[in-house]
Order: sequence, then C-alpha cells, then structure tokens
Amino acid sequence: MGRKLLLTHINEPGIHTLEVYRQKGGYRAVEKVLKQMTPDEVVEEVKKSGLRGRGGAGFPTGMKWSFLAKPEGVPRYLVCNGDESEPGTFKDRYLMTHIPHALIEGMIVSSYALGAHTSYIYVRGEMMPQIRILERAIQEAKAAGFLGQNIMSSGYNLEIYVQPGGGAYICGEETALLESLEGKRGNPRIKPPFPAIAGLYGCPTVVNNVESIAATVPIINDGGEEYAKIGIERSTGTKLISASGNIKNPGVYEIELGLPVEEFIYSDEYCGGMANGKRLKAVVAGGSSVPILPANLITTTAAGTARLMSYESLSDGGFQTGTMLGSGGFVAFDEDQCIVRNTWNFARFYHHESCGQCSPCREGTGWMEKVLHKIESGHGAQSDIDLLVDVAKKIEGNTICPLGDAAAWPVASAIRHFRDEFEWHIQHPGLAKTQNYGLAQY
Ligand code: NAI
Ligand code: SF4
Repeated sequence: MGRKLLLTHINEPGIHTLEVYRQKGGYRAVEKVLKQMTPDEVVEEVKKSGLRGRGGAGFPTGMKWSFLAKPEGVPRYLVCNGDESEPGTFKDRYLMTHIPHALIEGMIVSSYALGAHTSYIYVRGEMMPQIRILERAIQEAKAAGFLGQNIMSSGYNLEIYVQPGGGAYICGEETALLESLEGKRGNPRIKPPFPAIAGLYGCPTVVNNVESIAATVPIINDGGEEYAKIGIERSTGTKLISASGNIKNPGVYEIELGLPVEEFIYSDEYCGGMANGKRLKAVVAGGSSVPILPANLITTTAAGTARLMSYESLSDGGFQTGTMLGSGGFVAFDEDQCIVRNTWNFARFYHHESCGQCSPCREGTGWMEKVLHKIESGHGAQSDIDLLVDVAKKIEGNTICPLGDAAAWPVASAIRHFRDEFEWHIQHPGLAKTQNYGLAQY
C-alpha cells in the first residue's frame, strides 16, 4: 500500500467536521506554525519539501512563495484556485467535499507564511455543495479560534472567504480568476507581471491549487525533508489522481509519485484494470490539456523503460512520445473508443471555453472543431488532416494563456499517434457515419 498524506482519514465517519478532524490530529500544523515558526521558516520548509503545483503546471510552490513582493504597507493575498474544470479532473472537488478542514488548515498555514490577512477560495460555480461545505468548515474553524483576530494568541489575524465562480473553464487560469474575483469578466492577463508582483487588486498575490495548499499540512507536521523522501527525482510527495474512462474502478487515488503507470492501471489498489475485459487503447494522463498517448507509450517510454507517474517520466520523450502529469486527470480509453470522436469532443470543449481575446485561439479552436466534426461525420478530405496539424501549430505558443496550447496539443498528438484512424474515417465515409474506427478495427 502506498503512503497516504492527504487521504489518510478519508473513510473516517464525520471527518468533514472539525471535531473528528481534530481528533485525527487536525490543526496541529496551524498550532506549530503560529507558536514555533516564523513565516520565513514555513516558506523554507515548503521549499525543502520540493512540492510542485498540483493544479497542472508543476511550478515549485516554495519558489513561487519566495517570489512574492513585499512592499511596505501593501496587502498581500493568498487565493486558492478551486475552479477545477479540466476535463477528467475531479480530485480537488473530492478533497473539498470529504475533508474540507485539510484545505482550511492549509490556507491558514500558507496565509501565515505569505503574510496574508485576507485569503480567498475561488470555487467553480457548479460546485455549490462544496461551497456550502467550505463555508461551514470556515465557520467551525472561526468558532474554535483558528480564524479571525489574534489567532491562538499569536497576534496573527486572518479571514478566509469563499467566492463562487461563474462556471467558465477560463476562470481556472490564474489571472482570469483574479479578474473574476475583482468582479470583472474572466479574461486572462498578459504575464509578466506575474500575480506574485501584481495580482489581486494590483497587489502581490499567490494563487495556489487546492491540493497544493492542503499538502502544506503534512509538510509542516512531518517536515519538508520527510516529504521530499517520498517520490522520485523532482517529483516529491504524493499526488491525487482522478481516474476515469474504461477502467474497473474509477475514483480519486492518492499515489506516491514514481508509481509505475502499469501498476496504477492494473493493480486492484488503483484502477483495477480495464473494464469488461477490453484492451487499453490510449490514455490522457493529465487532463484533456495534455497530449494523448497510445497504450504502448503510456506504460513504457520510447526508450523501453517503465513509465512512471511522475512529472519527469510522463514527459520523457517530449511531445513526440511523451505527455504530462498535468492536473492528474487520468482518462483511459479502451479498444472500442473512437479517437476521432473523442478528439472532436475535446475540441468542442476548448472552442466553447475560449475567451476570444486572441485570434489564434478564438478562430483556431473553431476551425479545429469544425474540421474534426467534418471528418468524424464522414465528410472529411485527406487534406483536412494536414490542415488540422497546421492550425494546431499556428495556435501553439501564440496565445495569451495556455488554453490555446491546451486546445492544440490533444489534436496534434491524436493525429501523430492515430493518423490511420483519421484516414480510415475519410476513406470510409459511409461507415464513419454509423460506426467508429475503434469498433470497426478490433
Ligand atoms: P505557468 O507555468 O505559467 O505558471 C505556473 C505558476 O507559476 C503560476 O502561478 C505563475 O504565476 C507562477 N510563475 C511562473 N513563472 C513565474 C515567475 N517568473 N515569477 C513568479 N511566478 C511565476 O502555468 P499556469 O498558466 O499557471 O497553469 C497551466 C496549467 O494549468 C496547465 O499545465 C494545465 O495542466 C493546468 N490546468 C489545470 C486545470 C484544472 O482544472 N486543474 C484547468 C486548466 C489547466
Ligand atoms: Fe482567451 Fe484563448 Fe487567448 Fe486564453 S488563449 S486568452 S482563452 S483567446
């Protein structure tokens, strides 16, 4: 059994309440930082842990914290990104639903480290139950003296507010989130300046994902060095993975980074193998924004070594033969799944969610969606495949925010690895309308 740091007590009845959470050792980290540590020592501990942002980018959390500007007399903010919308990703929702105090405790620890006295948890608008759960947890924490003025007689003051989003995927992009939090349309800003310099209301701000913030609790309790002993290379600690698709046991799993992908898919401790005795065809390992990989390249790298669930191993081979850990949204496709149809589905999503600020993304996502639909419905031409590759290339790296890349990579990688399937759709227009390539070929 892999070690658990975040989900250790997930099955404990009543763990969502302050009472049970405290019985299981909750709020020790708050006590420790407020009574025994300076804010800089907390930052140092997080740096030592090697924790990397769990929202998808994998940027070192301690380093991000140390970039925070500290001009005299200007407030600093911590904003928790709970706008989880990446297709295939539902681990933050799980954490907020079942163990909300892990996030609240992490918010207090992190806010203290950053010198923030007002912090926000921005939660996707569709997650009303989670918003209520968090608000209740904040009330409980405040009543117990963990929030408010002079917390535990330390002289430190903190208020946390939950802000519902409007249900737009783009508001998960940190600068769009800040715009939305300020009451404006969620349009991404051009970076730099990074939020660490000019964030919420123009003030220095750290935006961290739900899971990253919750991970500061075991880091403080056990020490950064202990945390860094778990995992492999620069992928330290544990990671929540949302597993879905054609597997036997969909759900949220906490894994030690470095776990072989093959074990994650086939072991009963995790996905339990493919459902209905089918064969694995492809995997999207880090939410739909990362390149799709065929079965042979997901369990082994192109060099023939075992592929591991880590930032380094999953990206081994670059985008030619690798992918990314991203947000940990692991979607497995079986032999009956049609790659063309799934790629069109993703493209439809990105076209719908594009904010429309930059033309490569606004126009390109629409083009890709239309051309993919044309191929999928049996009206495609051979030249459409190269057209898709060309449009994807023109989007990649030419947009304000990563949504453009996120839209381009699934299309480019699907064609790279499953070109024959796109060609089959074009060559069998009658069949393509009624039957997908997966069912036809296997
Ligand atoms: P990024 O790599 O631009 O930035 C990562 C973080 O590091 C940001 O907070 C940024 O402000 C900070 N940073 C980077 N360089 C910095 C510097 N020089 N100074 C100060 N701070 C710096 O990536 P981004 O745009 O934050 O995230 C993209 C990722 O988000 C994608 O890889 C995707 O996997 C993921 N994503 C996750 C979703 C979810 O629902 N969990 C939804 C959509 C995307
Ligand atoms: Fe908006 Fe797309 Fe440009 Fe991002 S890349 S700012 S979503 S148009």
